[in-house]
Amino acid sequence: ATERTLSIIKPDATKRNLTGKINAKFEDAGLRIIAQKRIQLTQEQAGKFYDVHRERPFFGELTEFMASGPVVVQVLEGEGAIAKNREVMGATNPADAAAGTIRAEFAESVGENSVHGSDAPETAKEEIAFFFSGLELVG
Ligand code: CMP
Repeated sequence: ATERTLSIIKPDATKRNLTGKINAKFEDAGLRIIAQKRIQLTQEQAGKFYDVHRERPFFGELTEFMASGPVVVQVLEGEGAIAKNREVMGATNPADAAAGTIRAEFAESVGENSVHGSDAPETAKEEIAFFFSGLELVG
């Protein structure tokens, strides 16, 4: 089925001017970017987005990093988009990411791992609504 997923190009990647190279990976995999904006998050907003990780030891590091520079938030659409996006991103830790994936090619560490993608249909819906109104999604 056609799905939508929320993707974030993280500060380590925007700082290194990798937005276009990462978008090319999505498009080459058949994902369509149907919404996209470059924004600067506050640490508080990053904390709200990553609320499920609030009790994890890396929460402070994660939210500080996500507020350390611009991010590009985007909605990707396509057949099985959630799983496809996760495939294109590669494993969370770049050391475990398959060759050719975004994280294998660009990520610097498990924290500074260049991209985020929703992990399931319900979280995709919530994460898309966190950043976008329905009018901003142009499929
Ligand atoms: P993401 O898919 O954005 O969802 C949560 C993020 O937490 C994850 O990617 C990682 O970037 C980050 N993360 C997971 N484990 C660690 C860790 N041990 N140290 C720092 N950040 C982490």
